[in-house]
Parts: sequence; structure tokens; C-alpha cells
Amino acid sequence: MRKRYLAVATAALLAGTTAVAAREYKVGLLLPYSGVYAALGKEIQAGFELGLEHYAAELGEDTIRLLPEDTEVKPAVGLTKAKKLVLQDKVDVLAGLVSSGVLAAVRDFVDGAKVPLVVANAGNIHATGKQCSRYIIRVSFSNAQITRPMGRYMAERGLKTVVAMAPDYAAGRQDVEAMRGAFEAAGGKVLKEIYTPFRKTKDFGPYLTEAQATGAEALFVFYAGGEAISFMKQYASFGLKDKLPLYAAGFLTSQLYRNAIGEAALGSINSLHYVTTLDNPENARFQQAFQQKYGRVASEFAVQGYDAARLIVAALAASKGDKEKFVDAARTTTFASPRGPWRIDPATNNIVQNIYVYQIVQGPDGRLVEKVLKVYENEQDPPNGCQLAG
Ligand code: PHB
Repeated sequence: MRKRYLAVATAALLAGTTAVAAREYKVGLLLPYSGVYAALGKEIQAGFELGLEHYAAELGEDTIRLLPEDTEVKPAVGLTKAKKLVLQDKVDVLAGLVSSGVLAAVRDFVDGAKVPLVVANAGNIHATGKQCSRYIIRVSFSNAQITRPMGRYMAERGLKTVVAMAPDYAAGRQDVEAMRGAFEAAGGKVLKEIYTPFRKTKDFGPYLTEAQATGAEALFVFYAGGEAISFMKQYASFGLKDKLPLYAAGFLTSQLYRNAIGEAALGSINSLHYVTTLDNPENARFQQAFQQKYGRVASEFAVQGYDAARLIVAALAASKGDKEKFVDAARTTTFASPRGPWRIDPATNNIVQNIYVYQIVQGPDGRLVEKVLKVYENEQDPPNGCQLAG
């Protein structure tokens, strides 16, 4: 009897030991490692890994394993990979997503599976609007949040007419729509919206000719990744800099490929949630560590990965693998980010943050840098069909 009691006690002790043993959390990274946004995916992962280096110790003995999957910037592929990560690998959290189209494709599955998804790029306004989900939390930006201030800025600068160009998919259309809404509300007029086939356009010439023919005072664009580099080179070689000055969502001249664009980027005016030269202690530490680890200046995409990792660590530490508690923690966490102050809007799970309008100029060391012209503080999407908070 006594012996048996001991055995049971030992088993209980062992079980107790197992329950508090270190656990490994699985984070599924859904990013493009090929296709037009491949560089963005790799940069987000680089930032994410630095974020883990800096903050994973907050998990004590527990660790994080990354499971990267290539979405190829294709909605159907993204959905297949999301299902694989959740159903087969049983990840605790999903993170990543670059394309608005891929985010739209995984939305219903993620919501139904009740797996937290921390969005580290894709700006699709519906994911934090009429298609919002308690499980989808965004630490990057929404498309409208970036370009609405640009619409206001262009009007404040005295522009009366612009023509818009963007790739023909959700992000391009939403960027133009938000810019247009703000610009026209302030008295401006968008003369034409020109959409180029997404992932397919190599020759922007005919579209640039069409844009110029409108006689607009300026050109507004959204392009990112490989398309941004091709577009900028052709815009400059058409000699349009003086005739049709450029205003853009800042991904156009991202630090990530600014050197590949070169002088063509000079003079363009951009809006974005991050500027590499921001003067705050968190940015100094982040840039210094990133440059030491990777040998290059970190871009907005790296910041998004870095902050996503830090948010995930904080929410895992608070929830210990309980997905509902993870969501509660992730929605209410904030910390000093390299980008400046931010918080998650409890009504939409979208981020609220400053938007910087800046011009690309040549710095004293010859580097192409951002000269900040105006800061739109605490930019928040207006009510948009989502009401998560009770
Ligand atoms: C998007 O598809 O939402 C998207 C892609 C690339 C960017 C920004 C937004 O740089």
C-alpha cells in the first residue's frame, strides 16, 4: 500500500515536472521567398530573427521554432501553406503575409481555425475592416493609412490635379482609393487611375505615356519590390522627373532596394510609417544591431518583422500557448518601436501610428536618405465596418 502510494506520488511528481518543462512554440512564417516580393519576405524574416535575438529571453526556458513557407505572392499557394502550417504542423501562431491578395485568401481559414495571425506587411484594408477577425492582428500598416495622409499632403502643397498608377490588385486599388478620397475632399482632382497587370508588367512605357497625356501636375504611384525598381528606372529614363513630379507610398523607394534604384529615386516624395533616420533610442539600437548582423541599413520591412517577433514573444509569455489569451494579450500590448509610438486599435486590430512624409535626398555621405517634410501623428483608419471591441 505504502509502496503504491509512493509510485503514484512519483508519477505525479514526474507529470508535474513535465508540465513545467520548457516548451517549444511553433511560429509559421507565411512569406514570399520567390516572385516579385521575394526580397520583402526575406527582409521581414531578417527583422523577425533579430527581434527574437533581442527579446526571446522573455520566454524564460521556452523557445520558438520558425517554420517558414513560401507563399510565392500567390493567393492559392498562400492558403495551401496556411492550411499545412495549422493542420499538419499545428503551429501556435501564424505570422507574415506580404500581399493583400494572399491575406484575403487566408482570412476565412484563419478566422475559422481560431489561430492567431500577426500580419507583418499586407495592408489589405478589409482584413481590419469589413472582413476583420479577432484572430488577425496587424503590426505593419493598412494601405489606406499610408496613402490617405499623402492625399492630404498633396492638396496642402497646392496641387490641383494628379494622375495615379498602381498594380492591378487589392493593394494598388486601395492605395489609390484612399489617396483619392483625401485629395479630392481637400479640393484636388484625380484625372485618371491607371492600373498595370500585377506581377506581369515589365514595360511601364505605354502607361507612363498615358499618364503624361492627362496633363496632370503630378503622378501618384504605389509599386513595391521588383516592380518598384523597374518602374522607377523607366520613369527616370522617360525624363519625367521635371514634367510629372512623383508622389508615392514609400515602398516605392524602400531602403531595401533604394541603392538598386539609384539616382532615379532623388526628389520623389513618399509617405510611410518608418524612416531609417528616426531619432529615438529604440531605432538607434535596432539599426545598429541590424547593420552589424546583416551589413546593410534596415528598411520598414525589417522593422515590421522585428516588431512582429517582439509582439509574439510578449503574447506567448502572457498566454503560455492558450490561443484566446494570446489574442487578448497581442491586442493590448505596446512597446517602444523603432518607428515611434504605436498601439493596436481594439475596434479593428489594426495599428495606429505616425505617418511620415519625406523626400529622398542625397545625404552628406552620399547615401540616398529621407528628409522628413511632415509627420501625421497617430494616423488611425476611420470606422470601416469592423467593431471587435464590445
Ligand atoms: C500589399 O499587397 O498589401 C503590399 C505589398 C507590398 C508592399 C505594401 C503592401 O510594400
